[in-house]
Amino acid sequence: MSTLGTIVVTGGAGFIGSAVVRHVIGATDATVVNVDSLTYAGNLESLADVSDDSRYRFERVDICDFEAVRDVFRRHRPDAVLHLAAESHVDRSIDGPSVFVRTNIVGTYTLLDVSRAYWDDLEPAARSRFRFHHVSTDEVYGSLPAEGLFTEDTPYHPNSPYSASKASSDHLVRAWHQTYGLPVLITNCSNNYGPYQFPEKLIPVIILNAIAGKPLPIYGTGDNVRDWLYVDDHAAALHLVLTHGAAGETYNIGGHVERTNLDVVRSICSLLDELCPDSPFRPHASLISFVTDRLGHDKRYAIDASKIQRELDWKPSETFESGLRKTVGWYLNERVWWERVLSGAYRQMVGESSNGETGQRAV
Ligand code: NAD
Ligand code: DAU
Repeated sequence: MSTLGTIVVTGGAGFIGSAVVRHVIGATDATVVNVDSLTYAGNLESLADVSDDSRYRFERVDICDFEAVRDVFRRHRPDAVLHLAAESHVDRSIDGPSVFVRTNIVGTYTLLDVSRAYWDDLEPAARSRFRFHHVSTDEVYGSLPAEGLFTEDTPYHPNSPYSASKASSDHLVRAWHQTYGLPVLITNCSNNYGPYQFPEKLIPVIILNAIAGKPLPIYGTGDNVRDWLYVDDHAAALHLVLTHGAAGETYNIGGHVERTNLDVVRSICSLLDELCPDSPFRPHASLISFVTDRLGHDKRYAIDASKIQRELDWKPSETFESGLRKTVGWYLNERVWWERVLSGAYRQMVGESSNGETGQRAV
């Protein structure tokens, strides 16, 4: 059970944030205040399972808006902040970096500023209990050669506008700890996959294109390597670090699951061949299409997760095979969720017309 009363979760309408909200509501007794501005990546329909729970609250707030964030803290009096709100997609950061600088850097700065003033005024017991947990990525460490793993001591070497903005935010969080003593935690995680992932990231793009008989775009030759973690394992790890991590520490989180992109796509195709025996698109691997590579495409990421395993006794519960089977099954069963994303209908939940920006970037 959580020892925390109220947790502000930023970005709780996103892919990982919604898994965190479901985990905290389902597995602990804490109250969650979901602070999310509902960009294209925010989808309240991902929270249908918990949105009626008496311990769930939603605040549509931009994390760059100091006054609005301060008002959320005044009204909800959080014991902790779990900060996930961000622009998260590397390709979008190459096309348009400015919103990444704004949200990931200025937004994190704003949250730190509000948190520090709030924390300064807390009574001693609440002050020592308070935590600011910043959720970050392994991409801050740059790209690995064929050998080696990212540890918590690997020097930062971000290569994309996205990873540079996340690295900047990590440095701000660390500085607020060193300078002001704010009790922070930082986690750097590898590639997540699972239910409710927006169909711009590799795995849902491939699943949904394959179901529709469309080309399966693989950048370059498909030999780039990513280290995959099932999203619910990440959500459980985040809550564990928040409640049991040592303030000021960084923890790397990963599944020890290295796969080339081509291997990932082939695994999805095999699962669809098995699960959709009547599909006219079998064998789905015949849809594979090699396309122009991503600019500055990092070759390999791989996380050494031994610190969180050793110090907090965490390890993932899903293998890649079990997690990918669950994920493909989820997209086959939850058509309504992703059809409303692809059509743009999910934006109607936030009072926007469905003619605005919809799910997929052109692939
Ligand atoms: P996502 O893009 O699915 O969701 C981001 C959420 O943040 C959305 O709900 C969006 O509406 C919200 N948001 C964006 N800008 C905001 C703003 N200015 N104010 C308030 N809310 C805003 O992202 P995700 O994949 O769930 O990633 C969540 C976090 O985890 C990010 O910080 C990301 O860098 C990090 N991360 C992601 C992965 C991954 O594989 N997806 C891996 C490691 C770390
Ligand atoms: O490593 C953690 C990071 O993982 C997170 O910090 C990011 O928020 C998250 O988006 C993810 O970044 P990637 O760039 O690794 O994820 P993406 O799904 O975009 O791409 C995974 C790999 O697949 C990458 O090597 C690019 C490739 N790719 C991607 C797409 C969308 C393709 O080959 N074809 C595609 O259509």
